[in-house]
Amino acid sequence: MFTSKNHFTGVIAGALVALSIIALVLSLVNIEDVTLPPTVKYGMVFDAGSSHTSLFVYEWDSDKENDTGVVSQTLSCDVHGQGISSYASDPLEAGDSIRECLEKALKVVPATKQREVPAYLGATAGMRLLREQNSSAAEQVLAEVAKTMQEYPVAFKGARILTGEEEGAYGWITINYLLDSFTKESSPSARVRHPCYPTGYNETVSLSSFRTSPCTNQSDPRLGPGDRNITLEGRGDASGCLAAIKKLFNFSACGQSQDCTFDGIYQPPVRGQFIAFSAFYYNFKFLNLTKGQALATVRETIERFCTRSWEDLSASYPEENPQRLPKYCANANYILTLLLDAYKFNETSWNNIIFQMKVGSADAGWTLGYMLNLTNMIPAEAPVWVKGHAPSLWAAAITFIILTLVLGLAALLLLLWV
Ligand SMILES: *[C@@H]1O[C@H](CO)[C@@H](O)[C@H](O)[C@H]1NC(C)=O
Ligand SMILES: *[C@@H]1O[C@H](CO)[C@@H](O)[C@H](O)[C@H]1NC(C)=O
Ligand SMILES: *[C@@H]1O[C@H](CO)[C@@H](O)[C@H](O)[C@H]1NC(C)=O
Ligand SMILES: *[C@@H]1O[C@H](CO)[C@@H](O)[C@H](O)[C@H]1NC(C)=O
Repeated sequence: MFTSKNHFTGVIAGALVALSIIALVLSLVNIEDVTLPPTVKYGMVFDAGSSHTSLFVYEWDSDKENDTGVVSQTLSCDVHGQGISSYASDPLEAGDSIRECLEKALKVVPATKQREVPAYLGATAGMRLLREQNSSAAEQVLAEVAKTMQEYPVAFKGARILTGEEEGAYGWITINYLLDSFTKESSPSARVRHPCYPTGYNETVSLSSFRTSPCTNQSDPRLGPGDRNITLEGRGDASGCLAAIKKLFNFSACGQSQDCTFDGIYQPPVRGQFIAFSAFYYNFKFLNLTKGQALATVRETIERFCTRSWEDLSASYPEENPQRLPKYCANANYILTLLLDAYKFNETSWNNIIFQMKVGSADAGWTLGYMLNLTNMIPAEAPVWVKGHAPSLWAAAITFIILTLVLGLAALLLLLWV
């Protein structure tokens, strides 16, 4: 027999079950995964080169991390003074030298993001040579710059010496990334006396670094394959300089082979467009040879420059660093020999070489490619996923949940009192 109380409780319980099911269904249907808006991310890389150090800060949107060409250069800062390898006898000062640029960099990165900014330092030819000469001095210099970087609120990811191959490969990545399409480097530091120096100049200085081709299968863990420390003999004149420079390359190791640069290094025929940056650019820029001049003009300009006396040169270029001025003749001949005799560019393919410092607004160099690669083509921060619900469904679900609760409470009170 049903009492009225039992009957009433049954009705309430049935209503509760029905409401619960509706509330549950409403909560589960039409839920979408939505992403939160992208955020700007940053990265920084020190290029510790042989003659100077630069800091580059890059930024990109976190949601575009797989696209090419979305990283832009936010800041470039030149560290005052010489390259870090010049602090071999005073490593502490190497660490201090980079502070100013670090502080500048922190001004362009919002404070909330600083601690997640990956920060790298890569050292090249100058430090490779120092390590060769005195490895403990090189280690100390690196340790000091690393220590300084760790004092700043960034995600320090290491300070190390790049091989010549890495330097070239990352430069290649940079260029192709920036050009939105998709150079092994060698750094001869030759102690050049005469033929390449203007008559009347008689000091001994080192040549700076140069990029060579990415197409080597040689690997030297200590030096880039082109790192050298050679004294040239001779008596200052243009053709003597070129001949002396050619001796830096072992062309005879290639025999008659056409797919060989020097030292027996494999080199396929040059095809396509080439961008000559860094030392190629700076040296040719000084000689005003970056405007796409024909090879004959380039040869003639270099030859003429090399015959000028030191007195004439220093009077003509009073603004130029007197340490650098006497090196342009040797540098230009080195570049010419590398491009023509080693890579085998000719009058026609010469026109496919563009000398430039920047691609778009970013500097051409190894730093961007290094960061891209070490962050796995830009840090893969998974987009932030959240559960999204259409507002009307959400409101309905809430309404039914509240109804269920109210009815449940009413039923409980009834059971207790009736
Ligand atoms: C980037 O590519 C990786 C692997 O291909 C993929 O898992 C990831 O979802 C992609 N990220 C974006 C934002 O497209
Ligand atoms: C190497 O460098 C260290 C530190 O500057 C110095 O103390 C040491 O004398 C150097 N060794 C040589 C062989 O030059
Ligand atoms: C040049 O390379 C050849 C073949 O590898 C070698 O026999 C010769 O000694 C090298 N010459 C110099 C100056 O290194
Ligand atoms: C890029 O990084 C990977 C490891 O993350 C490494 O195996 C590869 O050799 C690097 N590429 C270059 C060009 O160094």
